[in-house]
Amino acid sequence: MGKNGDDFHPLLHTTPESSVKIPVPSVSVGRESSHTRSGMKTAILIWLTLQNSIHTLLIRYSRAREVDAMFVSTVAVWLTEVIKCVICLFLVAQEETPRRFIHALKTQIIEQPYDTMKVCIPAMIYIVQNNLFYVAASHLDAATFMITSQLKIFTAAIFTVIILRRSLNRTQWFALAVLFAGVSLVQLQGTKSKEITGESPFIGFVAVVVACCLSGFAGIYFEKILKGSAPVSLWMRNVQMAVFAIPSSFIAIYMQDAKTVNEYGLLYGFDSIVWLTVLWYGIGGLSVAVCIKYADNIAKNFATSVAIVLSTIGSMFLFDFIPSLTFLLGAALVIFSIFLYSSHQAMVAALGRLRGEIPSTKEAFCL
Ligand code: C5P
Repeated sequence: MGKNGDDFHPLLHTTPESSVKIPVPSVSVGRESSHTRSGMKTAILIWLTLQNSIHTLLIRYSRAREVDAMFVSTVAVWLTEVIKCVICLFLVAQEETPRRFIHALKTQIIEQPYDTMKVCIPAMIYIVQNNLFYVAASHLDAATFMITSQLKIFTAAIFTVIILRRSLNRTQWFALAVLFAGVSLVQLQGTKSKEITGESPFIGFVAVVVACCLSGFAGIYFEKILKGSAPVSLWMRNVQMAVFAIPSSFIAIYMQDAKTVNEYGLLYGFDSIVWLTVLWYGIGGLSVAVCIKYADNIAKNFATSVAIVLSTIGSMFLFDFIPSLTFLLGAALVIFSIFLYSSHQAMVAALGRLRGEIPSTKEAFCL
């Protein structure tokens, strides 16, 4: 988090209910800005819902459709990093004059090697995570993939407890248990139905679980960096990450897919669907970054819950996915656990904030 306290990880609000105080503003000063802020948060909420649902369907479609040449997923991950870096450089450039832009890159990246080095760990972890998500999408149907990946909400919570030494209340621990029950039920359908097609739900499941653990860790680590260091803009932080992410994801191509790439070239199997998936993945990553900065727990959780429903409906139409009763029960438990995890006070704060009545969760929780 920057010193100005702007950046905020939505999954870190583990404040015990007893310590939550929601101050009500006594004057109308800032009412307009509060409206603007709640408008922005509503926009993020709607955007994340659509982004998440389309992302899951796209990544699954890109891996599951029948094509003569299947693209190399490590190349897709690398290109996503390149695209994100270009977008972030463009956004940084928008905020500065050309001279100050070059100066900012020099002072904030090259002349602060220690500060830049700090983002090395989350950058590397995100690369492994992104590669694992492609593996998972190759073996799990979109709905199962979407629901299982909700585990990352809770790996973030676990790492919050371990690394940041914050505590979870009893309801939140209960929500964790409900989530695991829900994910296990959803997996039952996946395990039964996919063996004939050559996909391995087990590999997909392991990939998504490991990816979720990495996501939780990287998120918390990134939060720690943002909190403790000099105020560097969100886009500049992402440019710093790209310094490590682009070369390491390129090395990953040659470690894993050297034979295919040497024989057929980097863009083997790249058609419009793959380009769209890569671009959408990049936009998704930057949306996560924006979410870390502006949105709150409720916003992200509402978005992912609705996205679960949308991806399941989308899978039914696109992939002839027929959810079993076990699947529906598991999905319901996962959605329920997400809401349960968000404390009652946070829910009240978010609803009030959407109406512009009370300050953000961050202010309310004084974190
Ligand atoms: O939801 P989750 O935290 O797992 O999202 C991680 C995704 O967001 C990864 O694809 C990662 O590359 C991307 N990301 C990003 N910039 C950040 C944080 C995450 O591009 N600052």
